[in-house]
Amino acid sequence: MEKIRIRGNPNLQLKGEVRISGAKNAVLPAIAASLLTADKIKLKNIPLVKDVTTILTVMRELGSKYFIRKNTLTIQTKRILSHEASYELVRAMRASILVLGPLLARHGKAVVALPGGCAIGSRPIDLHIHSLEKMGASITLEHGYIKAQADQLIGTEIDFEKKTVGGTENLLMAASLAKGRTVLKNCALEPEVVNLCELLEKMGAKIEGAGTDTIVVNGVKELGGTTHTIIPDRIEAGTFLVAGALTKGDITLTHTMPQHLDTVIEKLQTSGASIERVKNNTIRVKGTSEIRPQDITTSPYPGFPTDMQAQFMLFMTQASGTSIITETIFDRRFSHINELSRLGANIEVYGDKAIVKGKTLLSGAEILATDLRASASLVLAGLIASGETLINGVEHLARGYERIEEKLKNLGAHIERIET
Ligand code: EPZ
Repeated sequence: MEKIRIRGNPNLQLKGEVRISGAKNAVLPAIAASLLTADKIKLKNIPLVKDVTTILTVMRELGSKYFIRKNTLTIQTKRILSHEASYELVRAMRASILVLGPLLARHGKAVVALPGGCAIGSRPIDLHIHSLEKMGASITLEHGYIKAQADQLIGTEIDFEKKTVGGTENLLMAASLAKGRTVLKNCALEPEVVNLCELLEKMGAKIEGAGTDTIVVNGVKELGGTTHTIIPDRIEAGTFLVAGALTKGDITLTHTMPQHLDTVIEKLQTSGASIERVKNNTIRVKGTSEIRPQDITTSPYPGFPTDMQAQFMLFMTQASGTSIITETIFDRRFSHINELSRLGANIEVYGDKAIVKGKTLLSGAEILATDLRASASLVLAGLIASGETLINGVEHLARGYERIEEKLKNLGAHIERIET
């Protein structure tokens, strides 16, 4: 069983430079989008994380051929050999649902396992399904699988009843090859959605309004190959900004896009950290001795990202005062609280709110990570807890962070992966 062992130090100061990897949540839809053409797609700056391996396993089952050289993926699906994404792969990564739209658009058929719930909530996909039905797909749910058929998707107007990143991405890919014009309203504004639009446009899609609430897609008959660069991972960058602020350290982050982190940077600055934009893709964070408490409410981009909630909550356990953290996106994204409490944090939950009372000195313990971002929060906690922290469930970490132990070690942390 793999675990992460951290020798914590309440006076740790992380210092140095860290290169931020490509965004997991941008590369997954980009890989799915490669299904839309028989030509070669080259994706640069991909993160070598477990979720990429998982979706590439799905793609291989569908008929894709690919190779990775350094951090560049070249992938091509000359023919769709199968249109089924199996349960064991979808269960491993719910983002596999992103093959639904492209498969329907390219191949007219798709059988994708229904992703179950996960540690951060029920996570339905009703908005994906109803929207594709509006485009003419006939979809049934049988034995835990989504069975979808569409000889030709037809452009129409779709107004998402709530902002959905995956739903927007699935429909963008489906609409790119549909007949006629599709108007998508109440779209997600996340940078990863914009990065997908850029890729689709390079492939020949006709898209207007990327990055706004309303995106218009004029379907085309065929899409072609291209080369595209995946944007930096704003959540990895946010995690390292918190690490620097938390440890009163001095960390320079390179290969970032600071403009994707405005709300996180603003909250860190009001908590007392100093964050300087060194040049267009480099930011420097310096922590302070006095951390001021902050209330945060997660919301769709450009609001405070839900994927930064767990990391920021840990940060607030070291603030001098009370912080209220409200999670509005997912219905159960507080699994890290029990584990942080085992380290000595003082956090009470009232519905979608967590009341964090700081400053609490943390002491190391054996703990369990349950989802990707919770595990990042627990790692940060272990860094500043006195004594040793052993983290179980580390497979979650590898899903979305490329070589995080190595990156933290280079900044002065005593962290290692052990086999027990
Ligand atoms: C994406 O998930 C990200 N994953 C998540 O990051 C991120 O937390 C989330 O967007 C933020 O909104 C990837 O991009 C691979 P949603 P996604 O559809 O697309 C509800 C991480 O740690 N909803 O935007 O699955 C849903 O339950 C992961 O990197 C419906 O009700 O999220 C949630 O409450 C975690 N019906 C809200 O909308 C639907 O059909 C936002 O979900 C779809 C979504």
